[in-house]
Amino acid sequence: MSETLNRLQQAHINQLLDTYRTLMQQHGLDAIALYSGHAAPHYGDDQFPEFQAAGHFLHWVPLLEAQHSWLIITPVDRPRLMLHAPTDFWHLSPELPDEPWVSEFDIELVSEAAAPSLSGKVALIGNVEALQGSPVAPPHGEANPPTLVSALDELRMHKSTYEITCLREANRLAKAGHEAAQAAFAGASAELDIQLAYLGASRQRESHVPYDNIVGLNQHAGVLHYQHYDLHSPGKRYSLLVDAGRRFRGYCADITRTWAGPDAPATFGDLIDAMHALKDRLIADIAPGVDYLGLHQTMHRQLGEILVSHDLYRGTAEACVESGVTRAFCPHGLGHSLGIQVHDVAGLQTPSGEPAPAPETHPALRLTRTLTPGMVVTIEPGLYFIPMLLSPLRDTDAPINWALVDQLMPCGGIRIEDNIAVTEQGFDNLTP
Ligand code: GLY
Ligand code: MN
Ligand code: MN
Repeated sequence: MSETLNRLQQAHINQLLDTYRTLMQQHGLDAIALYSGHAAPHYGDDQFPEFQAAGHFLHWVPLLEAQHSWLIITPVDRPRLMLHAPTDFWHLSPELPDEPWVSEFDIELVSEAAAPSLSGKVALIGNVEALQGSPVAPPHGEANPPTLVSALDELRMHKSTYEITCLREANRLAKAGHEAAQAAFAGASAELDIQLAYLGASRQRESHVPYDNIVGLNQHAGVLHYQHYDLHSPGKRYSLLVDAGRRFRGYCADITRTWAGPDAPATFGDLIDAMHALKDRLIADIAPGVDYLGLHQTMHRQLGEILVSHDLYRGTAEACVESGVTRAFCPHGLGHSLGIQVHDVAGLQTPSGEPAPAPETHPALRLTRTLTPGMVVTIEPGLYFIPMLLSPLRDTDAPINWALVDQLMPCGGIRIEDNIAVTEQGFDNLTP
């Protein structure tokens, strides 16, 4: 695989170079300088939060931890990488990997953080504002011109074959973690132990995950971005929701699975099966020309049908959607673009960079695009029992079967999430 991957990566870099040069011509630029960024210590402390290089830098250079580094693209020169490699006996200095992509760049290892000297009309991309007041002044150039930034974001919306290969590999590695999490749940582990089992099986340290793993037992499965890991196993085991990923060369997997525990009512297991089937039907609809917002609305219609067929809503599926009840059971969007960032850029703009915000009725939707080949998106329908959202409905005449809702409340909720590439013919599910 690695030889193919290397060839694909070289093609990816060459394609990027061509496109950047076209953009430079359109924007009348002599150079684009991409800044990797740098971490700042916690206030009054000598410790730093976890660092991750900026997305546009990573689009070219798969060095997730490169700080104080620059990549300079010009219309004529080879891409020039100034990689900060301090000589320091406290840390291991960054080293270039023995991978063919390095030969695509002129690379300078810089021991003292420094800004490149640039002339002409230059665009600086990245968190260059953070350099103000630091020992390294920002170089000459305009920081983050909005039209150029949205064009660079747009470039990241469509993935090259190299990027899709990386996303598939990230999924393969994450899958091993999910299997280990499921086994740990069967063994009555606490959330922390499930998390550790996940990390071990997916071969990653916690600071390298693409987003904080969500490992929720019981009611915690109904907290959308649940952020703790309980140290103790709860007495009863109703459910486990694991939303956890893996990076591969910077590219993210974002997979969710939900399992019923031995103490869950039978309906909960049936609902999990129904949500898997819903996820698969939505994926089967993916093809070029499909409107993602329309797919999100299809999710709500079919969620309404699931609520009716499982006796949670004693009315029609149409009324369930129209009255906003499905939104109380699923307050998030169908999914988002996926790439170097888990919620990748350009989801809420048109191909020409005009804003395309989520509609007021679905404010949490992160992707409003018409699907075209090369996009990679998540499909993640959910069904939750969230007291904060359901309580206000108790005072209305909405025909909700509250006795069943109360029975299911300890299970928290369900989310099932796969990662899908849009192809010329339809779709390719990257999640094994
Ligand atoms: N893991 C966050 C999300 O699914 O969007
Ligand atoms: Mn997720
Ligand atoms: Mn997601």
